[in-house]
Amino acid sequence: MKHDFTGKTVAITGGGSGIGKLSCQRFAEAGAKVAVIDINGTTAKQTAEEITKAGFTASAFQADITDENAVIETFKAIHDCFGSIDVLFNQAGISPMGTLETTSYEDLKKVFAIDTFSVFLTCKYVLPYMKQQGGGTIINTIGTYAFRYVQNKLGYCSSKAAALSITKSVAVDYARDHIRCNAICPGYVDTPLNKDVPADRRDRYLDRIQPMDYLIKAEDIAQTALYLASDASYAITGQAIVVDGGTEATLIYTSPNQ
Ligand SMILES: NC(=O)c1ccc[n+]([C@@H]2O[C@H](COP(=O)([O-])OP(=O)(O)OC[C@H]3O[C@@H](n4cnc5c(N)ncnc54)[C@H](O)[C@@H]3O)[C@@H](O)[C@H]2O)c1
Repeated sequence: MKHDFTGKTVAITGGGSGIGKLSCQRFAEAGAKVAVIDINGTTAKQTAEEITKAGFTASAFQADITDENAVIETFKAIHDCFGSIDVLFNQAGISPMGTLETTSYEDLKKVFAIDTFSVFLTCKYVLPYMKQQGGGTIINTIGTYAFRYVQNKLGYCSSKAAALSITKSVAVDYARDHIRCNAICPGYVDTPLNKDVPADRRDRYLDRIQPMDYLIKAEDIAQTALYLASDASYAITGQAIVVDGGTEATLIYTSPNQ
């Protein structure tokens, strides 16, 4: 389905890489004015430049979205630049390994800062703009691991579960303000976030854990975001849309190759 975001402003965190970068491109191609937010100013600028070179509209905003003042200032700058903020798509995140023993308190605070508190901060400070303009849509990128846990991922699973909880609270609290808030929960996606995953481990996952015989792409997540941000999904709020090739749905998967 072709979605039209002409005249809308879409702010995307983590827009300098992976799913965030491709999503910036897809929203811009669909007519949106795209605010590319990333802690890495160079990659954010690259994304915005590639979009404008292709004839679409984007601007880069360098910001650490775990910094409250930076979040406030960034949304003000986006609003000053484009005149509205209609969609917030939270992509920025990290995915550290660790058990209870190998995760320090500092490690845990870091993953919560990026994967949970940034969701709180960005939702909190985009809200006044959305309320003032009579509505908006927020999409938070969570992950299957928020509700189906795996070994050695204590900080990541717990921080994503908390971010999903924030998503649902925001949806319930602001439904009457015409603000929708949903989560996309990807499985394993082929992006720079997974650059250190050895190929044999990835192939084992695809063969033995994920029912679909398919390497999920950033495109699959971007297309889901376009749908969730559009009026085609107008009655959907407070939901976690799982895009994981069936992994969450299965308890034990027996591959034909086993
Ligand atoms: N790739 C996967 O397999 C997968 C699976 C499930 C969920 N996710 C989630 O999807 C999201 C995007 O993942 P990706 O694979 O595109 O990752 P990526 O590493 O390619 O991109 C993440 C981007 O976030 C930015 N970022 C990190 N900390 C930031 C901060 N404090 N402020 C602003 N920007 C910051 C990085 O600079 C980077 O550009 C993450 O939230 C991740 O947890 C990814």
